[in-house]
Amino acid sequence: MDKDIQVLFVDDEESIIDGIQRLFIKEPYGISGTTDVGQARQILEREKIKVLVSDHRMPAMLGVKFLQETKEKHPDVIRILFTGYTDFSAAEEAINLGQVYRFISKPWKTTELLATIRQAIAYYDLVVENRRLYEETRAQNEELEIANRKLVDMYQLQREFTSTVSHELRTPLASIKTAVDLVARKMLGDVTNEQKEVLDRAKRNVDRLRHLVDDILDLTKIESGKLEMNFQMNDINHVVQEVADSLRDVAQSRGLYLKTELDTRIPRVPFASDRIIQVLNNLLGNAIKFTKEGGITVTSQDRSANNHIVVSVTDTGKGIAEEDIPKLFQKFQQIESPEENEEGGTGLGLAICKEIITRHGGKVVVESAPGKGSTFSFILPIQERRLPFTSK
Ligand SMILES: Nc1ncnc2c1ncn2[C@@H]1O[C@H](COP(=O)(O)OP(=O)(O)OP(=O)(O)O)[C@@H](O)[C@H]1O
Ligand SMILES: [Mg+2]
Repeated sequence: MDKDIQVLFVDDEESIIDGIQRLFIKEPYGISGTTDVGQARQILEREKIKVLVSDHRMPAMLGVKFLQETKEKHPDVIRILFTGYTDFSAAEEAINLGQVYRFISKPWKTTELLATIRQAIAYYDLVVENRRLYEETRAQNEELEIANRKLVDMYQLQREFTSTVSHELRTPLASIKTAVDLVARKMLGDVTNEQKEVLDRAKRNVDRLRHLVDDILDLTKIESGKLEMNFQMNDINHVVQEVADSLRDVAQSRGLYLKTELDTRIPRVPFASDRIIQVLNNLLGNAIKFTKEGGITVTSQDRSANNHIVVSVTDTGKGIAEEDIPKLFQKFQQIESPEENEEGGTGLGLAICKEIITRHGGKVVVESAPGKGSTFSFILPIQERRLPFTSK
């Protein structure tokens, strides 16, 4: 079987070429030898030569020159110079200039010559393989980058779309609500009990939809860093009391107590009261939703020594399994399946709470045990150390 010619010898002495041909006969690769530089050039063009060995002193051209020329035309070919002792300095200079991989001095030792050529072929293969791998990785990276850019664009588009649609839904929803209200309150004429029931159901559903649209709008604002926060020095006890008072009727209608235990020493702290009201509405709303017996206690505590205050909402409800706690703050996450969930909701509340509290430089903490109830607390720093505006 013909072996691929991988090594080329150039030497002006015919006898040397003959000797080399015999020496390499058993090697796994083919070699070619010539005394003529012109022919050597043709072989380099024609064959896939990995290693070129050239004599230095040749009548037509100096070996170093020929190797330099080859470097320009076939940069991958590993170049080796054959030299007598007298040409040692020329070889050394060529190596330093990077024109030659190494040199072999004449007369050579057979084993050394064979080993050097094998090594040079292995080196060539390594360089080529490395380059292939590099190109492959680069191409893959480029593809990944393009895919990534597309994803970012699509995500941005989706966000804008969600935001626009939610916004556009608000006005018609408000108008439906007013219309239903008007009829239900008999402003447009008498309404039978049966009709009133249907209208009340419609009203509840419109409210749910509005709640969902508002949450989605908040979330898109949060994600694009556009949720406004009006930070001011405020009294947290005042805000907690207001929210608790507004939800007491709802709690009592379900047979639950709703009480507050407020620490009067608490200092005023910087917060955006609209947003903290939103957080408290959700935490209290959740506590009421997921409690069947007992009730809800909201406490505030001064922890000035640690530079923060803590507000906690404790319920005597169903509680949450430890493995479910990390899921709570993810968007659209509800622990119970839609069939079990009689209370509706969208699973956005806690994701929004967490973001709001984080923007205040604070933290939300959950302690819960199934069957025993839950405590959701948030910490607000006293000294302003809000995170700067973050966008995702
Ligand atoms: N106090 C609680 N007791 C037990 N489970 C709770 C409590 N608070 C939250 N959870 C669980 O965490 C889930 C996520 O709460 P989150 O407030 O994010 O959503 P939601 O109340 O279901 O809907 P939304 O707040 O968007 O109207 C709830 O569906 C519930 O499974
Ligand atoms: Mg909720």
